[in-house]
Amino acid sequence: MGHLSGKCEGKKMKQADIGLIGLAVMGENLVMNMESKGFTVAVFNRTTEKVDHFVEGRAKGKNIIGCHSIEEMKDALKKPRKVMLMVKAGSAVDDYIEKLLAVLEPGDIIIDGGNSHFPDTIRRTAYVESKGLLYVGTGVSGGEEGALKGPSMMPGGSPAAWEYVKPIFQAICAHVEDGSPCCEWVGENGAGHFVKMVHNGIEYGDMQLICEAYQLMRDMLGLSANEMHDVFAEWNKTELDSYLIEITRDILAYKDTDGKPIVDKILDTAGQKGTGKWTGIAALDEGVPLTLIGEAVFARCLSAMKAERVTAAAAFKRETVPFTGDKKAFIEDIRKALFASKIISYAQGYTLMRAAAKTYGWNLNYGGIALMWRGGCIIRSVFLGKIKEAYDKDPALSNLLLDPYFKEVMESLIPAWRNVCSAAVTHGVPAPAMNAALNYFDGYTCALLPANLLQAQRDYFGAHTYERLDAPRGEFYHTNWTGEGGDTASSTYNA
Ligand code: 2AM
Repeated sequence: MGHLSGKCEGKKMKQADIGLIGLAVMGENLVMNMESKGFTVAVFNRTTEKVDHFVEGRAKGKNIIGCHSIEEMKDALKKPRKVMLMVKAGSAVDDYIEKLLAVLEPGDIIIDGGNSHFPDTIRRTAYVESKGLLYVGTGVSGGEEGALKGPSMMPGGSPAAWEYVKPIFQAICAHVEDGSPCCEWVGENGAGHFVKMVHNGIEYGDMQLICEAYQLMRDMLGLSANEMHDVFAEWNKTELDSYLIEITRDILAYKDTDGKPIVDKILDTAGQKGTGKWTGIAALDEGVPLTLIGEAVFARCLSAMKAERVTAAAAFKRETVPFTGDKKAFIEDIRKALFASKIISYAQGYTLMRAAAKTYGWNLNYGGIALMWRGGCIIRSVFLGKIKEAYDKDPALSNLLLDPYFKEVMESLIPAWRNVCSAAVTHGVPAPAMNAALNYFDGYTCALLPANLLQAQRDYFGAHTYERLDAPRGEFYHTNWTGEGGDTASSTYNA
């Protein structure tokens, strides 16, 4: 292999397998990862000094070709050309698509590996295809380290592009123990970015559940960070074995310069970049009860109101009810409550994907999605292996809770889960995600909800009609509740 890093000299250089635009940390790490798997990569960045810096630094002596313009990159690439954008989501992607369309040829492939909102990817796929090129919008999860060592990748877009990008993506992505790649074709147009968005929503939920377990142990049981480190270390040996439990364990043990746990000194105000919010909005659009992730997003919003909370805490002084039970047993109940709530969160997330697949015409492989999330990404866990099994067994499974394995697991968790939620309420410790999950479960498994009364109310004030338990579905009735409203139902006239 020659030493190719240096200024791009087009045809004199070895032709590159793929081009990558956007040399921020994720982009650079993906390039290093691709190169380490034997691919030659052409790179470009708006601020071209970064190209030189990269080529003379980390990329020195590697099969990485620095380019100072899009035209140079075009000349450096094998056909069909593949150009991956790792730039800020939004207008930068549209700007580069325009620039690339001006130099690339029909059959070439534009790939967006950023955190784009899926409706943008739907629009861009149609646009790029209308120009005779192919488009891929891929979720890339795993942070900086994942990008370098093997991320989870969720590609969607033009199906014809998959055969060309597959060898590269499946070489650079994470792999599970049996060697299966954490990257499979997700579906047309925005499917990949949609699945990545749901992944991020689930990440919000998983993190919130861990934080609720932490607050219950800290505020109700009075455990120290060191003690909780031990608890999370134990939990990571159970069904909860996952990256997020693992980092929580390590965070709790981490000491500040004075030897005290650093976690106790961090301001309790959460940030967010918006992918959880997008997931919640998508759920509202689809009419899917995604309550746990919704609560996780709102919990971050509430945490951000620090000054108001401090004022309100002084105004409503809480009488702390001391915990008198068996701490060890209660910690195990918290673990079970976390696990049960987590199952609900994934059940809700999968329900959202199923609804969106119908809306957007995607043929999603649900077991394959669990496999993609099994390694490489932030929500990676042993538990996802069980979800894969459930969907491989029954691809049409309407709700994860109805899978025989999960049904049995849930039944074993319910008493502990109820115990923890009621104790949280009694002790005044907020546990919005755990409680939302339990309320969803109780609603989902309730054959007779109070919506009969709700329909009566709607019919009372708005003549919206109702169906009857003792009549076939699809027959609509209206009652003249006050004797004054008349017999006209709202559906029979245009208000
Ligand atoms: P820069 O180094 O020139 O700022 C992450 O921010 C990456 O996206 C960087 O490579 C950055 O390029 C690029 N980027 C952000 N906004 C951009 C824009 N409007 N046009 C081109 N590149 C952009």
